[in-house]
Amino acid sequence: MSRLDSFIRRLEAQRLVLNWAAAAISGRDGLVLELGLGNGRTYDHLREILPGRAIHVFERKLSVNPRSMPPDDRLMLGDMRETLPEFGLRHGRAAVLVHVDATTGVPERDRVELAWLPGHVAALAADEALVLAGAGLEHPRLRPAALPEGVPAGRYFAYRRVTEG
Ligand SMILES: C[S@@+](CC[C@H](N)C(=O)[O-])C[C@H]1O[C@@H](n2cnc3c(N)ncnc32)[C@H](O)[C@@H]1O
Repeated sequence: MSRLDSFIRRLEAQRLVLNWAAAAISGRDGLVLELGLGNGRTYDHLREILPGRAIHVFERKLSVNPRSMPPDDRLMLGDMRETLPEFGLRHGRAAVLVHVDATTGVPERDRVELAWLPGHVAALAADEALVLAGAGLEHPRLRPAALPEGVPAGRYFAYRRVTEG
């Protein structure tokens, strides 16, 4: 499959998964976290399908389309390795949806450079929160969950944050 085809399928899967997640968290209070603002496409989609929901965005290097700029008080600029734990000190495990889109598209590199990320995500996610990711996350507190119909296996990943005993 060409990289163009692969990219298109990834975006289709993203939209399906985000729409599904928005419906899944309706009726449950809590924060939404967008990890990796990039161009702002998925952030823009999230704020459209989750009006009124607090969406906090994490990014180390701004390259966002100006139309998708989050408000200052919802944008955590800096390396997530530091900004996520800082956010946790202020908010605790208050997220009901975490969308992890921090990958580079080179899985071997991401596995090494983002090895710390699943633990940081688990530390911010409320019990049974939904965690979505473009690459697999491995952590004992993240339980793999089924994806909505139409998302090919391995294209996107979903997890539930394990309930603390
Ligand atoms: C694939 S892009 C995000 C795409 C975005 N969700 C969109 O729809 O346009 C990944 C982003 O994650 C950011 N990122 C990767 N590692 C990071 C880290 N450790 N701290 C903060 N941002 C990071 C990169 O700077 C990049 O902008």
